[in-house]
Amino acid sequence: MASELTIRKPDDWHVHFRDGAVMRAVLSGTTEHFARALVMPNLVPPVVTMNDAVAYRERIVASLPDGSDFTPMMTLYLTEATDADDVERAYKSGAITAVKLYPAGATTNSDSGVTDVARVAPVLERMAEIGLPLCVHGEVTDPSIDIFDREAIFIETVLDPMRQRTPGLRVIMEHVTTEDGVRYVQSHSENLAATITTHHLMINRNHLFQGGIRPHFFCLPIAKREHHRLALRAAAVSGDGRFFLGTDSAPHVDGAKESACGCAGVYNSPNTMSCLAQVFEEEGALDKLEAFASLNGAAYYGVAPSDETITLKRQDDSVSYQAKVKTEDGDITVFDPPCDLHWSVV
Ligand code: DOR
Ligand code: ZN
Repeated sequence: MASELTIRKPDDWHVHFRDGAVMRAVLSGTTEHFARALVMPNLVPPVVTMNDAVAYRERIVASLPDGSDFTPMMTLYLTEATDADDVERAYKSGAITAVKLYPAGATTNSDSGVTDVARVAPVLERMAEIGLPLCVHGEVTDPSIDIFDREAIFIETVLDPMRQRTPGLRVIMEHVTTEDGVRYVQSHSENLAATITTHHLMINRNHLFQGGIRPHFFCLPIAKREHHRLALRAAAVSGDGRFFLGTDSAPHVDGAKESACGCAGVYNSPNTMSCLAQVFEEEGALDKLEAFASLNGAAYYGVAPSDETITLKRQDDSVSYQAKVKTEDGDITVFDPPCDLHWSVV
């Protein structure tokens, strides 16, 4: 069995850095192992204009650990008031890499999101024209729809009609969690890709309730049945260029997670590469890890893969990782997968 693996430095195509004290504390968890990351815009208030994105990027860069050559790639939060000209200017100037669609009310800080995609049609058409990718949080928000069905119903009732109405729009289904999502992506050869998170490859919905309620496994979209997890794993290890890593690392301080109404989000940046090596080893597909983590996303976004590399090393004893990250606002618990890990980044 391979005991060392060197791959191009990975990119994280979906991360939440937050702002202020939390941002300063979590940045190094990403910059140590990743060359670039696509930074989600759901701050309070959200990153909605080019100026917001430029200012947020500057705050991130000013907080990067010394000597880091990490590149944050920025997104705009799509609202019903988004100005297509501002979006185009932001893209053409290099200030943003993608626009993020949150259905209003779908998840953390999504109140300013979109209630009806018809209302953002002019922006979507402009994006299709200029080749600017749309990252989609793919869940319907109707509270009467079962939470485990919201992704599948979104694909049928929102995503597919939107793509048909907007030919040429480049779409990324973010954090796909179902077999339905995997099949939808596999059956469309153009302008469609999906990110898969670390945790959705490792937990199913049973893990949320194993021996009691597990707030640190709660995220949105929520983990689904085992057969969905297996479909995600098969897609991730397949080498298919339409699937790539977006950790959806989403830090919340423990007080906000371990609460009567806990926030959604799993913080996994620091141990994602250990987790992924474990998953790919279990699947007999370590040779596909580089495609998933370092090549496929760059190709879809039209950028060259990193010139740098990282090396992962396997040990027989399980590796330990830092359980919590301290911030001025409180501790943040790192994703604790329900299996031993044997790989670490050297
Ligand atoms: O679990 C999640 N947390 N899902 C999201 O879509 C948002 C994220 C967050 O920002 O906390
Ligand atoms: Zn997210």
